[in-house]
Amino acid sequence: MVYTKIISTGSYAPNNIVTNDDLSKIVETDDQWISSRTGIRERRISLGENTSALAAKAGLDAINNAGLTPMDIDLLIVATTTPDMFTPSTACIVQDIIGAKKAYAFDVSAACSGFIYALSVADKIMRAGEEVNALVIGAETLSRIVNWNDRGTCVLFGDGAGAVVLKKSEEKGIISSVLGSDGTLGRSSLTSGEFVPKNPYIENDNKEDDIYINMDGKEIFRFAVNKIPQAVNEVLAKAETSLDEVKLIFPHQANLRIVDAAAKKLDLPKEKFYVNLNKYGNTSAASIPLALDEANKNGLLQQGDKLVLVGFGGGLTWGSVFLQW
Ligand code: UT7
Repeated sequence: MVYTKIISTGSYAPNNIVTNDDLSKIVETDDQWISSRTGIRERRISLGENTSALAAKAGLDAINNAGLTPMDIDLLIVATTTPDMFTPSTACIVQDIIGAKKAYAFDVSAACSGFIYALSVADKIMRAGEEVNALVIGAETLSRIVNWNDRGTCVLFGDGAGAVVLKKSEEKGIISSVLGSDGTLGRSSLTSGEFVPKNPYIENDNKEDDIYINMDGKEIFRFAVNKIPQAVNEVLAKAETSLDEVKLIFPHQANLRIVDAAAKKLDLPKEKFYVNLNKYGNTSAASIPLALDEANKNGLLQQGDKLVLVGFGGGLTWGSVFLQW
C-alpha cells in the first residue's frame, strides 16, 4: 500500500506583535471582551510582507527540516484566502522565491479549510501519480482584507504561514480524509474580496467592490461547533479507528469557545485539542500548520502518534485528515 507521510513542518509569522490593548487604541474594544469571547490575546500583523513572502519562509523552514532542498519538491500547493494577486498564483510566486524549479505549483481556495483541502489533494495526487515530495503551505495576510474600522472582525484575524513536506511512503502516514462544502450558506455568512463586474458595456449601477471580510459570527460559530465533531467522527469511521486512539486533535484556530464546545460534544477533555490561537488569532488557512509546527518543534509529536487535523470556514467548507506521525 502506498501512503504519503508528513516528514517535516515549518512556519513563519511576522515579528510585529499586536496585543488586544494595542487594538483598543484603534477601535472601541478591550482585552476583557476579546480574550473572554475568543481566547485571543495577540496576533502578528505584517509590516509589508505579502502572503508569498510568509509562505516562502515557512516552506523553506519545512524543506530544511526535512533535510531536502527546494529542487527535491515535485508538487507545491499554497492554500490561501489572501493571494498576492489573481495571477500568478501565490504558489508560483513561492516557487520562484525558493527556487523549486522542478515542481508544478497551484493555489487552493477553501478559506479556513484550505490547508486540509490542500493536504488531502496532495495526498490523493501523490498516491495516484509519480510525485515523491510535496510542499503544502497554508499562508495568509488577512490584515490586507480586514476592515480596521470594524471591531467585530478586526480583532479576530492575524497573519502567518505554516508548511509541511509530504513524502510518498510505504509506512502509514495519512490514513483517511474527509472534505465537504455547502455553497448555499457561503454568501450569507462569510465573504471577502467581492469584485463586481465592470466594463464599458455595463451601466454603472453604483455597486462598489467590497474587499473586506464580512461575517455572520453567530452563524459560523454554530456551523463550526456542529462540523468539527462530525468531521472528526467521519474521518475516524473511514479509518475504523476510535477516538481513544487519537493523541491530539489540531482544530482550525478561530475561537477557544468553539474548540471547547466541540470538545464537549465529542466528550473529550479540552487538552486533547492543541490550541495556540491566543498568540496568533485566526490565521485562516495558516492556522492548522502553524499549530502543528509549534507542537512538533516543542517535541509533542512522537513517531506513531495518531492525530486528527480538522478545519471549517468560508464557502462554507470543512475537512479533516487522520494521520499517523
Ligand atoms: O475562521 C472561521 C471564521 N470565523 C469564525 O470562526 C468566527 C465564529 N464566531 C465567533 O467567533 C463569535 O461569533 C465572535 C467572536 C465573532 C463574536 O462573538 P459573539 O459572542 O457572537 O458576539 P456578538 O457578535 O453577538 O457581539 C456581542 C456584543 C455586541 O454588542 P451588543 O449588540 O450586544 O451591544 C457587539 O457590538 O459585543 C459587541 N462587540 C464588541 N465589543 C467589544 C463586537 N465586537 C466587539 C469588540 N469589542 N471587538
